[in-house]
Amino acid sequence: MAEPLLKRHKASNSSSEVSEDEEVQDVLPRASLCPQRLRGIGMKLVNRINDDYLAMLRDVHRNDFYWTAMEKLPVRGQRVLDLGAGTGLLSLMAAKLGASSVLAVEESADMAAVVKTSAEHNRLQHIIDVHAGHSALLSLAEKDKADVIVSETFGVLLLQEGCLKSFIHARENLAKPGASILPAGGAQHARLLASTALRSACSALDPEMLHVNTFRDAGQVRFSLPGGFSVNSLPDACWMSDNISVLEVDFASSRPSDIPSSRHFRVQILEDGIVDAVVTSWEVWADKDRTLLLSTAADSTKGQPWGFARDAHWGQGFQVRSCRGGAAARSARLDWNQASRGTGRCCSSPCRG
Ligand SMILES: C[S@@+](CC[C@H](N)C(=O)[O-])C[C@H]1O[C@@H](n2cnc3c(N)ncnc32)[C@H](O)[C@@H]1O
Repeated sequence: MAEPLLKRHKASNSSSEVSEDEEVQDVLPRASLCPQRLRGIGMKLVNRINDDYLAMLRDVHRNDFYWTAMEKLPVRGQRVLDLGAGTGLLSLMAAKLGASSVLAVEESADMAAVVKTSAEHNRLQHIIDVHAGHSALLSLAEKDKADVIVSETFGVLLLQEGCLKSFIHARENLAKPGASILPAGGAQHARLLASTALRSACSALDPEMLHVNTFRDAGQVRFSLPGGFSVNSLPDACWMSDNISVLEVDFASSRPSDIPSSRHFRVQILEDGIVDAVVTSWEVWADKDRTLLLSTAADSTKGQPWGFARDAHWGQGFQVRSCRGGAAARSARLDWNQASRGTGRCCSSPCRG
C-alpha cells in the first residue's frame, strides 16, 4: 500500500530536496543504515512524521479522548469534518465509529497523501474523502456540509497554531448551523514554578560568560523540546502557585475579539522561595459538561505510561522570570499578553506584588 506514496514523493521532490534524498540513497545505504522502506522517500516527510506525528500517535490518552468523545456524541450516521487531519487518525476513528462520511482536510499535501493511503489501507476510502489544502480556502455545497467538526490542531500554546480562526471559518462555511464541535472549548493556563535546575539551565554563571546573561530571554514563552519542555524532567520542580486560567475559548462561538489582548492576575504565592518561571499548559473539554478532558499540565502526565509521548509532542511552555533573586512575595502579578492575531505567542511575567 505504500507504493503510491513512494511514487508521489519521487515525482514531487524539488531540487533542494533531491540533494537530501541523494544523501539518504547514496550515503546511508552504503553504510547499511537506511532501511529499504525509506529509500526514495523525501527527508522532509520522514523528518516531519518523526518530529511531529509519531509521539502524538503514541499518546493513547489523547486518542482515547477523541474516540470516547466521538462515540458519546455520537458520530454514527453523521457527516464529519476532520479539520487538520495530519496522519488521518481521527478520520479513521470517525469512520470506524460509523460516520456516514468523513472529509479529512489537511494543508500539507504530503500528509494528505498519507491520509489517503491510510484510508485505503483500512478499506475506508468509500467513507473518507481527503482534501489537500488549508481549510480556509475550501468551500462546500450545502448538502456536503458537516454535522460534526472534529479537530486536534493545538500547539504547545492552545491557540498557537491558528485553530480559533480555522474553527470560525469551518463552523461558518463548512458545517451546518448548530454543528457539534469537538472539542467544545478550552483554556490556556499559566502557573508559577521554582526550580534551581531550570534556573541554572537558563543562565550563564561562569564569570567569563556573564555577559551572555544580557541575552537571557525573559520576555517570551519558550519551548526547549521540539514540542514543549517537560516540567516532569526537572529534579526539583516546586509549584509556587495554583494554575491560573488566563483565557478561555468556546470553539462554537468565540471570536478573536472575545479574547483580551492583555490581562493581569494577582497570584497567591504558595511556598517560600524564588519563582523561576511561568509554565504554560492547556486543557480542552469534549463537551459543555467538561467531564472528558485533555490536558498538557505536567500533573496530568506525571507517571502515566503515555506521559512521555505527550510531553514529547506538546509538553509545556516556560518563560523565565524577569525579576532576579530574592524570596518571592506572598503574591505576584502575572501579566498575560495574547498576540494581536489571537494565534501567536503569549508572554507573561511574575513580579513582586
Ligand atoms: C497537531 S496535528 C494533528 C493531526 C491529527 N488531527 C491527529 O489528531 O492526529 C495538526 C495537523 O493539522 C494541520 N492543520 C492545522 N490547521 C489546518 C487547517 N486550518 N487546514 C488544514 N490543515 C490544518 C497541520 O498541517 C497538521 O498536520
